[in-house]
Amino acid sequence: MLDIIQLLILGVVATAGYVVFRGSRHDPREPPMLSNGIPIISHLLGVMWYGIGYWTMQAKQNASYSIFGIDLLVTKIYIVTSPQLMQVIQRNKSLRLDPLLDITVRSFSGITNKKTLDLLVDTTSGGQGFSQKLMHSLAPTMIGKSLDEMNIRMVRYMTPLIDELGDKAPFDLYMWCQDAITDASTDTMYGPMNPFKDKEISDAFWDFEKGLGALMPNILPWLTAHKPWKARQKMSAAILKYHQNGGIEHASELIKLRHTSTLGAGITPEEYALLEVPMPIGFLSNTVPATFWSIYDIYSRPELLDDLRKEVELNALFTRADGTHVIDIGALRGSCPLLLSTFQEILRVRTMSSPTRFVTQDTIIADKYLVKAGNLVTMPSLEMGKRPEVWGETAEVFDAHRFMTGASSKADPGEREPRRAGGFMTFGVSPTICPGRHFASSEILGMVATMILRYDISPLSGTWEEPEKSSSSLVSIMTPVKGKFPVTVKRRQEYEGTKWDFHVEEGKGQFPLVIG
Ligand code: HEM
Repeated sequence: MLDIIQLLILGVVATAGYVVFRGSRHDPREPPMLSNGIPIISHLLGVMWYGIGYWTMQAKQNASYSIFGIDLLVTKIYIVTSPQLMQVIQRNKSLRLDPLLDITVRSFSGITNKKTLDLLVDTTSGGQGFSQKLMHSLAPTMIGKSLDEMNIRMVRYMTPLIDELGDKAPFDLYMWCQDAITDASTDTMYGPMNPFKDKEISDAFWDFEKGLGALMPNILPWLTAHKPWKARQKMSAAILKYHQNGGIEHASELIKLRHTSTLGAGITPEEYALLEVPMPIGFLSNTVPATFWSIYDIYSRPELLDDLRKEVELNALFTRADGTHVIDIGALRGSCPLLLSTFQEILRVRTMSSPTRFVTQDTIIADKYLVKAGNLVTMPSLEMGKRPEVWGETAEVFDAHRFMTGASSKADPGEREPRRAGGFMTFGVSPTICPGRHFASSEILGMVATMILRYDISPLSGTWEEPEKSSSSLVSIMTPVKGKFPVTVKRRQEYEGTKWDFHVEEGKGQFPLVIG
């Protein structure tokens, strides 16, 4: 919802942009530019109202163009709807993600020291690109031994959260997913002295995350974006204390690497604490809604729920001598193809991702379209991820078997090859693929597999009617929920009175997921 201050900012940005850019003209070689109601303002309002979902809406309405442009005055957005064009863009080195990460440094972390900013921001902005290098250097901490360690910690924290479900009075399932994933993930990342264990700090994170749109213009944020600004203050103070008390010593490899590299580059502890504030966006903002939709999309299909229960029971559940029932995370990955396929289908249909690249120099793509330096190219996946030329005639249908190699299903009886290039974009498109996808999969599937065996879940309203979705997130591509989804949970008789645990086998943490 727009408030007065955001409208004022919009007016100032639009006027300033008009004054500065009124001389710029559309080059006939550029993609066609779309007008929409009041020139420029309508699009600006659309972006502020619908967040990244606005690109998807525009792509859907204008799918007859392979690429088209929207003029936002201070920048142009070129929106791609063709999978073939997307592949050309992925290969072009002049179209880069890195300059966009500067938003994280300038607006989200709120660092103002010029010397530090010069070190952090991308080379295209005259900086040394430290922030980008640091982000890309994290990948090795999310595979192999470090991934095993994260998974071991994560399941330890998750077990009691799932245990308590059986005793709960009706509750909001989305909020439960948010609290459970926040607790398990931040404990995994930051260790026993996790600053987010304090509910005030984890709530501050969600206030911060929901207020990023207001923080983005970075104009007097204490006035124009008071709530997220205040939340950032609280979080950075807690992270600084965590650093001073030696909490890092017991953190995950990922957090340790960020800490050592940042301080090693001469950044002060206070600035390190500010830089760390946006980090949980990476491991929470998509995982929370993805967990909710995984539970929703499985429980709302009784036949699928039944098939998955049988598959997990047969292939990933074993009983220890003391009677403890154990879910084997490695077996979910290697021996539960329907579960893995269902998960990827949920990610396909629930994502509204739009991988975006910054145009670093005037570039002709596909020998045809000029995209001009300083503007953005974005590729909304909802439109491309449902195209019949990519996914066949069943593109619009939810098909839990879609990602099973060689399998056929009621929805699509033929043989299939699930790895169709350019079709699956939920974890990004090369060269920037999410390095956290294996951890996210263990966390979500571990939780879902245990829940389906142990509990029946029913909506309090009696019907599986989708809750209201939030379309204004700037950072989540997994369709977060705005409304509540109250449910009741009942223990299943089969497992009444049993104790539960997880098993993580070292070296088996990487999931064979389809990537774009
Ligand atoms: C369902 C959950 C998740 C989804 C859908 C997801 C999606 C993505 C996407 C689409 C990108 C690429 C951004 C772009 O090209 O614009 C990305 C990058 C990234 N993700 Fe995830 N992510 C998830 C969970 C996680 C988790 C749990 C972690 C950490 C453990 C993580 C860490 C990262 C990092 C560090 C990057 C930046 C990589 C780089 O710039 O080199 N993600 N993620």
